[in-house]
Amino acid sequence: MTSSDIRQKFFVFFKKKGHQIVPSSPLIPLDTTVLFTTAGMQQFVSYLSGEKDILQDFNQRHLVSCQKCFRSVDIEKVGDNTHHTFFEMLGNWSIGEDSKKGYFKKGAIKYALEFLTNTLGLDKNRFWITIFKGEKGIPKDKEALEIWKQNNIPEQRIKEFGIEDNLWGPVGETGVCGPCSEIHYDRGIDYGCKDKNCGPNCLKCERFVELWNLVFMEYSKEKTGEYKPLSQRNIDTGAGLERLALVLQNKPSAYETDLFLPIIQEMEKMSPRPYISNLKPYRIIADHLRGAVFLIKEAVLPNNIERGYVLRRILRRSIRYAKVLELPLNWYVCLVKKIAEIYPEIENKEENIITIIQNEEEKFRKTLEKGLKQFEKIASQGNISGKQLFHLYDTYGFPLELTEELIQERGLKLKIDKKGFEKAFLEHQKISRAGVKKKFGGLGIEQVENQEKRMKMTKLHTATHLLHQALRQVLGFHVRQMGSDINENRLRFDFSHSQKMSGQEIKKVQEIVNQKIKENLQVKKQEMEYEKAVEQGALAFFKEKYPQKVTVYSILDSSGKIFSKEICAGPHIEQTSELGCFEILKQESSGAGIRRIKAILK
Ligand code: SER
Repeated sequence: MTSSDIRQKFFVFFKKKGHQIVPSSPLIPLDTTVLFTTAGMQQFVSYLSGEKDILQDFNQRHLVSCQKCFRSVDIEKVGDNTHHTFFEMLGNWSIGEDSKKGYFKKGAIKYALEFLTNTLGLDKNRFWITIFKGEKGIPKDKEALEIWKQNNIPEQRIKEFGIEDNLWGPVGETGVCGPCSEIHYDRGIDYGCKDKNCGPNCLKCERFVELWNLVFMEYSKEKTGEYKPLSQRNIDTGAGLERLALVLQNKPSAYETDLFLPIIQEMEKMSPRPYISNLKPYRIIADHLRGAVFLIKEAVLPNNIERGYVLRRILRRSIRYAKVLELPLNWYVCLVKKIAEIYPEIENKEENIITIIQNEEEKFRKTLEKGLKQFEKIASQGNISGKQLFHLYDTYGFPLELTEELIQERGLKLKIDKKGFEKAFLEHQKISRAGVKKKFGGLGIEQVENQEKRMKMTKLHTATHLLHQALRQVLGFHVRQMGSDINENRLRFDFSHSQKMSGQEIKKVQEIVNQKIKENLQVKKQEMEYEKAVEQGALAFFKEKYPQKVTVYSILDSSGKIFSKEICAGPHIEQTSELGCFEILKQESSGAGIRRIKAILK
């Protein structure tokens, strides 16, 4: 059964059971404090908590989705049989229903069993179940235990675990969560284990694959650490597509399923080293590149902060392993194309994605060789200090785990001084902050003494923000500011986009900007914490660290609808009607994957 069949069958099954199909939400969540979407329930949090009624926004209380997820916590474990950064999770929900009517534990368990056995044809005798044993004031889930037994799962195949394993959530520090019950699949004696307590969660073998997690969401974790009952009960379930595929396609790991194998085979064509004796490098590249492709698709760019840094780390790790496998220079080009064959939503976006990977590869390749030499030199001295770790990071672009991995691979007994690294990092930051403050002044408009000149530049600066947003609307959200320069006569704007813009696109962008000028939007200035600004979706483009407090400029209409929002040092004019008429004079290339526009106000 192919992975597309599994997705399809899941939707058909739950649709028949009265569920509404909901598209996957983005990997980069719009309105939460977490870096990535790590679970299918994230887009439903405010409905699960009861803060909002689901029926305001959906036709149904019963929903089904296939959610794209990205988890960065286990990056260094990727390469084994079970960990991935990017993956898909199938899920069904019952949200905020009158408990007498809809479905809760009984229904969720029944549906899961029916789908796995009837639709997918899996053998029920191979299922092992986990339930919550009761802890921290939340009672043992006797109800779930009874339901499983009623469904003919013998008690000896039902195991109890505590908060660590069987209380799911919350995603952040606080919020909705609940006891959960998992279905594990026993792959049989081929994966045999000598541990007499072997069962789900046996860490010594991979006989068991966790297929499905059923969460009975009825608590909220408070700031105090207490678990408070919610005003409503919900079902939240998650079944990993990669895992279902490996079981149904009878493969040792997800890497041999149709979701990964074409990528691995493509790599094998290019490498003198076969997959079978180089599992780890192959798997890391396949996983990380898939993750990188989806992050870049959502406009994340490699840099040194937050999401951008996660992307940089997975890209650099793949680049290093590409070297281990002796892949040719442009190894990622056909791999990205393969990924686009597996995931149609990537189609037509490959060129931009490849350009961004290429830029990062070029940057890192220059320092990788020298950095490796430097590493060998340091390592041969039998000790590696926090300062040296930082030097490898800062000068050669080695993320900490890359150095850690090099140490492990060589079987060296060097201690990684993480604290020392952080100290060196913070010291460096302090020193560079003073410098950054100056740079952050940005375009230097305020320093221009001639008032008329200053006014012209200020207008062009506001026009730049309008242009930036218009480009994003017309060309896509991969468009990001890469540079900006303003003088009294024109603005110059560099942005990430790898093709020449068509005449049609230029015209459209120009029209949008002029339309927004005509609408006489208001430009609003606010001061806020950097994190808060980013959380609210303000665009931030500096590679350097921002100061703690930042200025955010929003351009919005009278109903408060925001057209553009950017972290920016200003200055700006107050109303867009002051700008006049906007005209794009010229477009040109400004380096690989970067376009440049020159424009004026008349
Ligand atoms: N939220 C649960 C999980 O991520 C079930 O969907 O496993």
